[in-house]
Amino acid sequence: MGCPTLALLLAAASASAQYVPPDESQALLDPNAKYPGECPCKDKALCELQAAPRFEKELFAFHVAGEGYNMQQWRRYDWSRLTTVALWEFLDSSAELYCYAKSKRVRVVVPASPEVAVYGGTNESAKAAWTAGVAENVRRYFADGVNMDTEDAIAPGNRTSRDGLTDMVKRVREALPEGAVVGYDVGWMPGIDGRFYDVAGIAEHADYLLIMAYDMASYIFGACLATPNSPPPQVLQGVLNYLALVDPSQLVLAVPWYGREYPCVSGTAKDARYCPIAAAPWRDANCTDAKANAVDFSSMPAKTAASVDGAHADAILEQSWMNFVDKDGNVSQLWYDDLASLEAKYRIVKDKGLRGVGVWTANMLDYGPAPSFNDSSKVPQATRDMWTSISTVPFD
Ligand SMILES: *[C@@H]1O[C@H](CO)[C@@H](O)[C@H](O)[C@H]1NC(C)=O
Ligand SMILES: *[C@@H]1O[C@H](CO)[C@@H](O)[C@H](O)[C@H]1NC(C)=O
Ligand SMILES: *[C@@H]1O[C@H](CO)[C@@H](O)[C@H](O)[C@H]1NC(C)=O
Ligand SMILES: *[C@@H]1O[C@H](CO)[C@@H](O)[C@H](O)[C@H]1NC(C)=O
Ligand SMILES: *[C@@H]1O[C@H](CO)[C@@H](O)[C@H](O)[C@H]1NC(C)=O
Repeated sequence: MGCPTLALLLAAASASAQYVPPDESQALLDPNAKYPGECPCKDKALCELQAAPRFEKELFAFHVAGEGYNMQQWRRYDWSRLTTVALWEFLDSSAELYCYAKSKRVRVVVPASPEVAVYGGTNESAKAAWTAGVAENVRRYFADGVNMDTEDAIAPGNRTSRDGLTDMVKRVREALPEGAVVGYDVGWMPGIDGRFYDVAGIAEHADYLLIMAYDMASYIFGACLATPNSPPPQVLQGVLNYLALVDPSQLVLAVPWYGREYPCVSGTAKDARYCPIAAAPWRDANCTDAKANAVDFSSMPAKTAASVDGAHADAILEQSWMNFVDKDGNVSQLWYDDLASLEAKYRIVKDKGLRGVGVWTANMLDYGPAPSFNDSSKVPQATRDMWTSISTVPFD
């Protein structure tokens, strides 16, 4: 017997280094089909609903296609392990990705976000029309289901809105064909950001809840300081709160492949550990992460090179930070995940027996230079490591 760990690493490493050449994906297309509307694949069986999961455990990726050559990044996703790709916007150009994903038995889901004017009201025909629209999108895109995402606040005790929202999930479930998957995106903890939803009720009609374990500094209590985006100890608290309400097999933990950079108030020392930020009251807290820009994982090498003194690890929060000074002398502080902090979260998935892991978004890595991401020697090791890690650590 060889060393199983090494064998596994080699298998995973080669999988995540693979590239889907345009020849291969284009060969799957029906050139006469008009997508959406008609099945875009030559083999019409690829457009059938994939009711049976490819693997028992989910590896879910949000796909935000981007523009220009970035639309080709999907060619470097780890198609050997993915189970679901959630298209974030409706794009006609998705046909190639669609047929390729389906040829690998990866589910493709489309967005469905109920509006407060509909779920919070009593207009039955508006509810029926919205639901019919969702079912129509699923049909036109030959989707395997939906990713529902309403991030509205619903006040505690607002039964009309709370139960109205749950009812929309039920309606979507009933409007979709048998076997279609219904996922619902929820905040990092029940009730966070004023989203007092009926979590258990939603879970009754959905296949799973996708916990968005990022942007977790929306409430900064106490001193107004730059705060980590997705610290594993806090993520664990969110997961435990969901586990009190729903079965682990209904929870997918989505992690960020990005960090957040805060402008520090003027006068902050360039090497300051604590970065004071301007007060900006939000809900019941004095300050928030609203002014902190998202920084993709793909930018981290350049950010590290441009930082004041490189990356610092915070052992308690299990997140990294670095400081910057701009040309005006303004200091900013970036909090972000590295592989170690992501793996701490992947291990929560494994330890708690959750349904799987997800990422916002698969496009945020450096897949190499334009125009077609086909030069494997230009794909940074960090990108390979990110896919290898998310494809193995939560499931080993
Ligand atoms: C109810 O919704 C329908 C469909 O959206 C709309 O045409 C109608 O005006 C609405 N009725 C009321 C009373 O708002
Ligand atoms: C519940 O929420 C809806 C939508 O925001 C709002 O229109 C309504 O007034 C709220 N009801 C109560 C009782 O607060
Ligand atoms: C929070 O805001 C309140 C009201 O504006 C203010 O009195 C208090 O000093 C603030 N606290 C901090 C820590 O900034
Ligand atoms: C950045 O520096 C400029 C010039 O000194 C100043 O006007 C501005 O307020 C600073 N911005 C912040 C966020 O401190
Ligand atoms: C990558 O694609 C471009 C354009 O299609 C092509 O010219 C080039 O030879 C390809 N490079 C490799 C390494 O396959």
